[in-house]
Amino acid sequence: MTQILEIRDLKALARRRVPKLFFDYADSGAWTEGTYRANEEDFAGIKLRQRVLVDMSDRSLETTMIGQKVSMPVALAPTGLTGMQHADGEMLAAQAAEAFGVPFTLSTMSICSIEDVASVTTKPFWFQLYVMREREFVLDLIDRAKAAKCSALVMTLDLQILGQRHKDLRNGLSAPPRLTPKHLWMMATRPGWCMKMLGTNRRTFRNIVGHAKSVADLSSLQAWTNEQFDPQLSWKDVEWIKERWGGPLILKGILDPEDAKMAAKTGADAIIVSNHGGRQLDGAHSSISMLPRIVEAVGDQIEVHLDGGIRSGQDVLKAIALGAKGTYIGRPFLYGLGALGKEGVTLALDIIRKEMDTTMALCGKRRITEVGRDIIAE
Ligand SMILES: Cc1cc2nc3c(=O)[nH]c(=O)nc-3n(C[C@H](O)[C@H](O)[C@H](O)COP(=O)(O)O)c2cc1C
Repeated sequence: MTQILEIRDLKALARRRVPKLFFDYADSGAWTEGTYRANEEDFAGIKLRQRVLVDMSDRSLETTMIGQKVSMPVALAPTGLTGMQHADGEMLAAQAAEAFGVPFTLSTMSICSIEDVASVTTKPFWFQLYVMREREFVLDLIDRAKAAKCSALVMTLDLQILGQRHKDLRNGLSAPPRLTPKHLWMMATRPGWCMKMLGTNRRTFRNIVGHAKSVADLSSLQAWTNEQFDPQLSWKDVEWIKERWGGPLILKGILDPEDAKMAAKTGADAIIVSNHGGRQLDGAHSSISMLPRIVEAVGDQIEVHLDGGIRSGQDVLKAIALGAKGTYIGRPFLYGLGALGKEGVTLALDIIRKEMDTTMALCGKRRITEVGRDIIAE
């Protein structure tokens, strides 16, 4: 096996180990995938200032995100169907994050349920909420997240309707996969994945099935999802969610300074500058290119986080230097999970930690909390 030294290596291994329809689900953006690519590429255009002969000993990446201590400012982003990258994926990723000292965010559209994840973790994790039309179900989700002692609610704002990802349509994506010859072949060529999947009974959307009224079985789930995401979601909804939840609230999917100003007025604890990893509005700017404008608009009123395109510790450091207080990784941890299960998620985090630490030192800083715009070269 080739040595795994960077996130790209985990991606290559995941491609060999995860059935094509699920690997492609992670590695895709909307339509032309232009925004998906820009998220990654725009980091490369930001240059760092090399400094010498400054004390580089005794370094620390420790900081806080919404007042909660983190070993480095990198959380795991909420991702749907994570339990299809690897059996029991959400439970394994949550355990890896907990051991690493960073937040894990469970998606509404996860395979393992809130209760599943709570049963294998000892510290609070975060829960991501999609606001569905069936408000009773939304209220029930919030109550379940409270009962599981989740320490933040991440409300996603950029998926009122679903962006089109061509690969998912071409692959006939579903969870669990259908048993057509095409899908059977995709699975049969990944025997390790199949063996592990046969060893778990978590193969469907366990936050939803058995909880949402209109979903009794899987065949109605696709229809339910299509009709359930609420196209009329508004700032007023943020208010009642905030009130009902009563705990730390993070608003995810802000890409415009005007929206950031609106978000700051809600009294939420943080916003995530995000375009959903390039999976929604193709043609939108990359997250990192919008970060400075959003920080300028609201940075003194609300904590600003960022996700999208982070593939290294250097990318995290650049986001922090440009004003983010925290970041999230989606695909990097999914590739780790698909490649090597829990160990792969730990490896992804470790690769990012080492890259961040070395880069910080070579930029002449010893504490992540001291990193600012002065490490960015003009
Ligand atoms: C496979 C996949 C599934 C996702 N599912 C969700 C989801 O259920 N809820 C959500 O708020 N965001 C979801 N996202 C978006 C991520 O939370 C995050 O914004 C994005 O992955 C960040 O970009 P990155 O993958 O380049 O790190 C998903 C992203 C991916 C790649």
